[in-house]
Parts: sequence; C-alpha cells; structure tokens
Amino acid sequence: MEKSQIWLAFGTLALLLASALADDVVVLTEENFDGKVGQDRGALVEFYAPWYGHCKKLSPEYEKLGASFKKAKSVLIGKVDCDEHKSVCSKYGVQGYPTIQWLPKGSLEPKKFEGPRTAEALAEFVNTEGVELAECRLMPNPHPQRFTKVACCFTGTNVKIAALPSNVVVLNADNFAQSWVGFLRGVATVKNLAPTYEKVVTAFKTEEDVVIANLDADKHKDLAEKYGVSGYPTLKFFPKNNKSGEDYNGGRDLDDFVSFINETCGTSRDGKGQLTSKAGILSSLDAHVKDFVAAGNEEKKAVFSKIEGEAEKLKGSTESFPVAGCQVWKDILESCLEKGADYPKKESERLQRMLDKSISPAKADEFTLKKNILSTFI
Ligand SMILES: *[C@@H]1O[C@H](CO)[C@@H](O)[C@H](O)[C@H]1NC(C)=O
Ligand SMILES: *[C@@H]1O[C@H](CO)[C@@H](O)[C@H](O)[C@H]1NC(C)=O
Repeated sequence: MEKSQIWLAFGTLALLLASALADDVVVLTEENFDGKVGQDRGALVEFYAPWYGHCKKLSPEYEKLGASFKKAKSVLIGKVDCDEHKSVCSKYGVQGYPTIQWLPKGSLEPKKFEGPRTAEALAEFVNTEGVELAECRLMPNPHPQRFTKVACCFTGTNVKIAALPSNVVVLNADNFAQSWVGFLRGVATVKNLAPTYEKVVTAFKTEEDVVIANLDADKHKDLAEKYGVSGYPTLKFFPKNNKSGEDYNGGRDLDDFVSFINETCGTSRDGKGQLTSKAGILSSLDAHVKDFVAAGNEEKKAVFSKIEGEAEKLKGSTESFPVAGCQVWKDILESCLEKGADYPKKESERLQRMLDKSISPAKADEFTLKKNILSTFI
C-alpha cells in the first residue's frame, strides 16, 4: 500500500545531545525493593511521581545514567514510582519529587543527592559514593621500629556518561535532493525536544516507510530559506512523493508525534514502537467475518473468496493496514476452514503465550498482527 513518509527534522544540537533509548533503569517496587537494594551492591534510587514536571525533566537524564552504568556490576540504578509504591517512599522519608538517594552496599541508610540533576553530576556522585575499601595489607617496612606501613586497596566505578549515537537521519543537500525533508534547527528548545525525538525514531524503527530526519538549517541556509524556515525549531511533515512540506504544529510529547504519524502515515504503533490492537483490523470486513463465522462449511468457502478479494483491494487504501496483513488474513481464513471453529481462540491463546516471552520486535509485530485479526473471528 502507499504509505506516507515523514521527515521531521532538526539541527546541530540534537546530534550532540546524547539520549538514552533503552530503559536501563531498574524498576523497583514494594515487592522487589528489599531484594535488590541494600544487598550486594550500592544503589542509587530515584523516588518519583510520573506526573510531576521536575520528574519528567529528570527522566531522560536518569535514563542516560542507567544506560551508562548498565555494565557496572557493583552499582544499581533504580527508580520507584511513589504513586504506585507509596509504602517504599514513605519508609525512606520521601517528601518531595524527585528525591534521589544513595543506599550503600549492605545498608539501608540513605544519603540524599543534592547536586544538579544532570546525568554527569549523578554519575560523579555514584562514582564517589560507590568507592569501598576492598582490603588492607601490612607492608614490609624497612624501619619496623618507627611505624607500620599499611596498603589499602579500594574498588568502585569510574563511569563517564557516554554520548549514545543518535538514530535520527542527518540530511544534507545531496540526500535532501533525492528525498523530501523537513527541518528545524535547535537552540534552547531542541535541548528539551531531543530525547523525545529519539524515542519517536525508535518507535518507528521497523516501519520502512517512515523516516525521521533532521537538518542543520545553519549549514543548509538555502534549503531553510526555500522552505520558509524562520523560527527554530521548525518541524515539517512530508508525505510520500510530495516535496512541498506541511508545517507540524502539534504537541511535542512522544504521544503527540506518534498519534500524528499514525494518522498521516497509516501506521498503528504506540510510543514504545509496538503495534497497537488496531493494527491489521479492517472495519470494512467486519460484516463478512460475521458471515464467515456463522456460515456452514460449504458456504464458508464462498465467503472466504469475498474476504480475500476485499483484503486485496484494501492493500492500496489509506486504511491502517500493514502490507503483511493481507497474507495473514488469508492464512487465518484457510486455517479456519481446515482446523474448525475453535481455531481462532486456541491460536490466539498460543500467540499470547509467545508474546509474554521476550521475543524480537519483528516476531512481536507478526504475532500481534495475527492476534488482532484473529480477535475479529472470536
Ligand atoms: C503536496 O502537499 C501540499 C501541502 O500539504 C498540498 O497542498 C499539495 O496538494 C500536495 N500535492 C500533491 C501532488 O499531493
Ligand atoms: C497512534 O498513536 C496513538 C498514540 O500513541 C495511539 O493512541 C493510537 O491508538 C495509535 N493509532 C493506531 C491506529 O494504532
């Protein structure tokens, strides 16, 4: 089907800013807190309220911290949602959000972090607090009558915040000419936008027809001028095969971008990049599916061809329908004929069990799509 492309773009600063994509911060709860904290490693814990502005602002920095300390076995970077796990937060005397505390190895005696809330400052705090005395040894001393020499060995982390590579496509005059593109240049606002923008890229990573890009309007003044970019940041949407570009004036939260792309590009993704329960569903087939389910075995074949034909037609429509969806419809119809009436329910349960395991994004897409379509037969 014809899907649209999107190029939303912004400039220089975004590339320099690191942003964490994966969630490397350990989620602590009432159930697991005591098992994870105060045990065999030191822990930095953020006590937060998800709705609170200062917590939202800290979140990308904290995720960056989590990503950078991922490999440091002696330290745990964790967070507790105080809305959900009140008892943990009150036990640690949390009064304002966010509260960040260091709990050393083998201790539940917290030390509050009072520094600036940046990944770098937090890393320095953890590197300092995490130092521990590993062992002390008496050293041979040439003047034993005077004093004893002791050598001590310390361990700890020396983690620096790594600048993670950005996944945003970078544009220049050459690749711009070949494709179609939007841009904005970052000043102050880009700093706040960058982590969200990276998450948008991640959410649509598996959609080949959706491209999220960025153009340095300082470097490419001619293009900026051509597209009437005067304020920064400017976001533009370019549908497939159309270089005129539309202004994007929507909200700048992850969900705003995702909704916009879902609507304009016919995708069905959520902010985490997973297919939503709407993917593959074709409301126009509802009535046929009902006929199919109700029909006797002989009539089923006739309805089958009808649905197959309709699905084929919809391939080129604007309805939210992944290209792979058409084949999945066909396979399901065939299996229904072969395997009988309880196939949709049984297969759907089997898929759910697989989805509950940790599987690749491609497999998750495949199973979700099939499960969505099966749901219309149940
Ligand atoms: C391209 O997009 C512009 C802006 O949305 C629109 O006005 C124009 O009609 C589109 N052109 C084509 C060929 O679709
Ligand atoms: C598109 O994204 C929004 C925001 O994440 C979501 O609520 C909506 O269900 C998505 N649309 C489809 C068709 O999946």
